[in-house]
Amino acid sequence: MALSAGEVRKIKKAAVVDGVLPIFHERWSARAFADRDVAQEDLKRAFEAARWAASSNNEQPWRFVVGRRGTATHEKIRESLTGFNQAWAGKAPVLILGVAKTRFSHNDGPNGYALYDLGAASSYLTLQAAALGMTTHQMAGFDRAKARERLGIPEGYEFGVVIALGYQGEPESLGNEELIRRETAPRQRRGLAEIVFAEWGKAMEW
Ligand SMILES: Cc1cc2nc3c(=O)[nH]c(=O)nc-3n(C[C@H](O)[C@H](O)[C@H](O)COP(=O)(O)O)c2cc1C
Repeated sequence: MALSAGEVRKIKKAAVVDGVLPIFHERWSARAFADRDVAQEDLKRAFEAARWAASSNNEQPWRFVVGRRGTATHEKIRESLTGFNQAWAGKAPVLILGVAKTRFSHNDGPNGYALYDLGAASSYLTLQAAALGMTTHQMAGFDRAKARERLGIPEGYEFGVVIALGYQGEPESLGNEELIRRETAPRQRRGLAEIVFAEWGKAMEW
């Protein structure tokens, strides 16, 4: 029998490190979504957090198209997902498409940091959502041409991500052994020694 949603939450939670904000250890990407709607105020709070991310030249190049389940926008975002993602993300009460404006507004010059900045804003969104008891799952697996055409995204905006947002559901509701295995597996991260250097290739000593 699959683990319960509560048991999974315990497995997914990273070990707490003293002095680090707890929300960084609590956020994780669920694929099983509960059949529960997201209140408009909580959705708004997630975007209120996202809009305070830093960005190159304070361009704030991120734009989000939000589809609630039962709307044409949700359906269009869902249809643009790859088959693997459609199988589970279609059940999320909210699907968000994140795109980035690729030219600076002040001089129309190319903004090479647009996607970087969208990533920062998306990260804030996911953390705020987690703080409100919701779960998010970011996805690269979607058809950009389909999304551009169906959602009428103009040229000059690059595709970054689709984010499924809602409340964690029971793993069993995924109805697929491989998805349940992933949903209940502990999370993995590289150690600091592999990613933080005092000199290139030489781990920082703490
Ligand atoms: C930019 C990006 C793209 C991702 N694309 C997909 C995807 O297409 N399908 C999927 O199931 N998960 C996707 N993920 C989720 C990652 O696999 C997940 O964040 C990673 O395994 C770490 O797990 P955690 O978020 O629970 O800590 C994506 C995450 C990010 C940030």
